Amino acid sequence: MTDRLKTRARPTRRAAFGTKYSELMVEGYSRRSVLKGLLAGTAVAASGAGFGVGAAFAQATSATNSLSSLTFPELTRVTDTTDHWPEGYARQILLRWGDKLFADSPEFDLAALNGDAAARQFGYNNDFTAFLPLPQGSQSNDHGLLVVNHEYAAPYLMFPDVTYEDYKEKLSDDQLKAVAASTGISVVEVKKTGNDWQVVTDGQYNRRVHLGTEMRLSGPAAGDDRLKTGIDPTGTIVFGSISNCSGGITPWGTMLSGEEGGMDIFAGDYTTLADQDLVERQGWDEDENDGYGLGRLEDRLNFEKEPNEWMKFDWVVEIDPFDPESKPIKRTALGRFTHEGAQVAVAPDGRVVLYMGDDDDFEYLYKFVTAKPWNPTDRAANKDLLDEGTLYTARFDADGKMVWMPLIQGQGPLTPENGFHTQADVVLRTRMAADLIGATPMDAPEGFVPHPKTGRVYIAMTENEDRLATGEGDAREQVNVANTRAPNPDGHILELTPPGAPDAPDHAATEYTWDAFILCGDPKDANSHAMCNPATSDNGWFTDPDNLAVDPVGRLWVTTDGPPDAGFNDALYATDTEGDGKALPKLFYSPPVGSEVCSPCFTPDGKTMFLSIQHPGELRLTDGEDAESLEDAGTNWPDFKPGMGPRPSLVVITKEDGGVIGA
Ligand code: FEO
Ligand code: CA
Ligand code: CA
Repeated sequence: MTDRLKTRARPTRRAAFGTKYSELMVEGYSRRSVLKGLLAGTAVAASGAGFGVGAAFAQATSATNSLSSLTFPELTRVTDTTDHWPEGYARQILLRWGDKLFADSPEFDLAALNGDAAARQFGYNNDFTAFLPLPQGSQSNDHGLLVVNHEYAAPYLMFPDVTYEDYKEKLSDDQLKAVAASTGISVVEVKKTGNDWQVVTDGQYNRRVHLGTEMRLSGPAAGDDRLKTGIDPTGTIVFGSISNCSGGITPWGTMLSGEEGGMDIFAGDYTTLADQDLVERQGWDEDENDGYGLGRLEDRLNFEKEPNEWMKFDWVVEIDPFDPESKPIKRTALGRFTHEGAQVAVAPDGRVVLYMGDDDDFEYLYKFVTAKPWNPTDRAANKDLLDEGTLYTARFDADGKMVWMPLIQGQGPLTPENGFHTQADVVLRTRMAADLIGATPMDAPEGFVPHPKTGRVYIAMTENEDRLATGEGDAREQVNVANTRAPNPDGHILELTPPGAPDAPDHAATEYTWDAFILCGDPKDANSHAMCNPATSDNGWFTDPDNLAVDPVGRLWVTTDGPPDAGFNDALYATDTEGDGKALPKLFYSPPVGSEVCSPCFTPDGKTMFLSIQHPGELRLTDGEDAESLEDAGTNWPDFKPGMGPRPSLVVITKEDGGVIGA
């Protein structure tokens, strides 16, 4: 996302960029396996330099992409009005904002758009995307469901005649309802015929979930007094999900959708809410308050009229895409914070493990381990598996160990004296519980993906301009062993190894080892202290890693969120995680100006990639600044029609020879 509606603390980039560099970096993980592993067999290693990191990469060569198993011809960086993919590949636009999901959906018509129409069409700003083969449970490569998050809407880029400054006042009620119905989730059947993928309009599972969809709350906080409202005296019902960012798929084929901060749907004075400590710790503040003007439509979306409604957001929602009538369920056992996603692994004993990042500066890593193993032969037996289990947060140690610490009421500091009387207190005040227990504050942790072949787990920290050096300011904000750059405008990716990896990784274990994978930034800029494979090209290094995905071959795909003023677009990169091509990213796809690429996902054979292109045109091409209106947008991709603004879209990438993507 970018900053206009969803503020995730992204101040002016590089403004404070200096040469400060933590001693921890030099003496810590840079001297452990990163350099040892990466430089083996390369020219730089052969030089035998006992270098500091920056110096090492100042020497990096850019000519040896042949080390990578990814054989696609790397793109040259480009920022223009359209998208780019490698030679030998084909790209298809499969679904655009406003496309029909049902046979009776109205055709997309900006002038006539209203809530009812939008609720029958593909939503705005598609983000997390997953392919679930059909028939259910099969390994089909040409037929399946796409489940897609729609993170947020940008009304000033959707409708003509409004601007960023005036849309809240100028939009009609119908237009506002269309905005609300354009977020949430789409479930849509797709099929490949010949070389092309098609939407199965009116597929039996097709569904839109939006701010009006009734959901249930389950787990420790369900029924708590703090969740009871005028329209829900039980504290177990909520209408809608919002800020659906990344997600995950459970082994039994349900979708998990992360609610990444819901403040912008609420109007009114948030300082009237009862628990101001929690409001502040949850990160809800004036920057995001009333981002849409939706308080005009519903009293529950006004803090002053319904002070408990806000507690029903910032959870992980579980949705069964194979049952369009099913009620989505917010699983409160997974904690309440700025949920990025929930990627899933299974421990050797069958318990299910969800990896979750809390995407804000100085926030924590979490995982949830179910109490019981999942049942592969009886799908229904798994329906409430995510209500019972243990939520953990992570601490990184200097010796390369990391510890998962349980957040259980009554254990350690989570006692009544500290305000934790029940497990509901723990999950409603998750960040405060993690503060007390001593979790390691990270640089905005986002993509968090287990690698199914190596058993390792990758976690992307997008960036943190506010990270302080040792001795400066608040200790929590100072560099630590796992977040070593102050400030950290470029972000980094860490590699976590559970015991038993690669053969039987125990994702339920409480002690892992960890290391750096890539310290992002320009490896030729000594000030960036970047670390990646010395063979990385001038087009291959990146900043601001966001979504992570592993393809069926085992390569890591990285999308970025935030680097426009570093001189290039957000884009999609791929790298090996092992061998000579480890940490050697190559630029694979570049979207139109202002876009963010989200959530690459693959058919089981790795021959089709689905990719979400979010917020095209949100920046101007001329100066890279935020576009103020539809007319001002940097592109009107993919239609390029006068009067039509940009349309976030889901694209499909295949190889022209029908081969596996990437290789
Ligand atoms: Fe929606 Fe954390 O980015
Ligand atoms: Ca994103
Ligand atoms: Ca992001």
